[in-house]
Amino acid sequence: MKSEISGFYKMSIDERLKLVKEFANLGDADLEPVKNPASIDPKMLDRMIENVVGCMMLPMGIAVNFLINGKDYLVPMAIEEASVVAAASHGAKLARAGGGFTATTTEPVMIGQVQLTRVPDPYGAKMRILEHREEILAMANEKDPVLVKLGGGARDLNVRVLESRRGSYVVVHLLVNTRDAMGANAVNTMAEAVASFLEKITGGRVVLRILSNLAVYRLARARALFKKELLGKDDLELGGEDVVEAILDAYELAEVDPFRCATHNKGIMNGISAVAIATGNDFRALEAGAHSYAFYAHGTYKPLTKYEKDAEGNLVGTIEIPLAVGLVGGVTAVHPTAKAAIKILGVKSAQELAGIMASVGLAQNFAALRALATEGIQKGHMSLHARNIAATAGAVGEEIDLIAEKLVAERKIRVDRARELLEELRRK
Ligand code: MEV
Repeated sequence: MKSEISGFYKMSIDERLKLVKEFANLGDADLEPVKNPASIDPKMLDRMIENVVGCMMLPMGIAVNFLINGKDYLVPMAIEEASVVAAASHGAKLARAGGGFTATTTEPVMIGQVQLTRVPDPYGAKMRILEHREEILAMANEKDPVLVKLGGGARDLNVRVLESRRGSYVVVHLLVNTRDAMGANAVNTMAEAVASFLEKITGGRVVLRILSNLAVYRLARARALFKKELLGKDDLELGGEDVVEAILDAYELAEVDPFRCATHNKGIMNGISAVAIATGNDFRALEAGAHSYAFYAHGTYKPLTKYEKDAEGNLVGTIEIPLAVGLVGGVTAVHPTAKAAIKILGVKSAQELAGIMASVGLAQNFAALRALATEGIQKGHMSLHARNIAATAGAVGEEIDLIAEKLVAERKIRVDRARELLEELRRK
């Protein structure tokens, strides 16, 4: 089945669920936690964090149209913000017409940092650490034989000497392939396990032993082509080429201005974090990684996506972003809704999931830029907002869309006006 589904947004929740079930070849029980969150056992929540009193529900939507490396995906997104799911779906639709997304990832390698203080000879210590490379890696790997058996484990070491106001620090990076886990637990355990040996061979004192969220060795990349002839806006008398130029200007501001760049990258993370939340991944880790990488990769804060024209004048969009996501060892494998989201995606590895998320980030960003560079972002926002206002005024079923359309056309998106329109409609 293809993920290109027209009118998905017009269907009822039950119709959408039926379609998702068919698409992903699932049984009724698989989607029960999505359909009926109240069926989730509170004891499971009580085990997740401390002092649990209940839960906070977010809407989960499905982004349609995604074609990534030739495979169709329906993408679950959990987010409180209107328009994000629609924008991702729209971006994916236009990317699809250009052949879809092509995504790749590096190996899932995370960094565990060990900070050594008060080392008498930092540069000599650096050499001694590297001389003991094999021993240190073996010591780390002893802590996680399962990961090693799965083809992961500690692979390499980097050592840096950093000068600080409190003297030199020798900072050891343990590079760990965490396979299908996000890896924070494995990496932190390994960093702690090698600490006393590092103290012994350096004569220093270990302070920090913790994963770095600047996951520069765990990158996901995606590219897509947006055909210029599909980008025009007749209502605004903008041809495809005009829109390509306008998008390039909108993107360029993010290249030269950190104030715009923050918002540009925020839009990318709207999509990525929504998939992270739906799949039970640590979205704070992804946000930290994304924004720090946006700085680190260029020595100054830059957009995580790039846009350019190909030889025919079509728009080419690319993204490169660290994405430390997992399928095992975390909430993803425990939380019933996250498990359902993974089944909907049908992903088999954390790297596949990272490739999808990078594509969603690119789709999201492209759709935002296109809207911003043409009619502006409020039109889309307002039509959804208008539907909420119509419902607040008491409209039900088809009345909601009828009232919402009128509110938008009149540019009066207010409950009092919605009530008047509803009375008129019902009188008729
Ligand atoms: C809003 O959540 C995200 C945008 O501001 C992103 C952007 O400006 O590129 C629309």
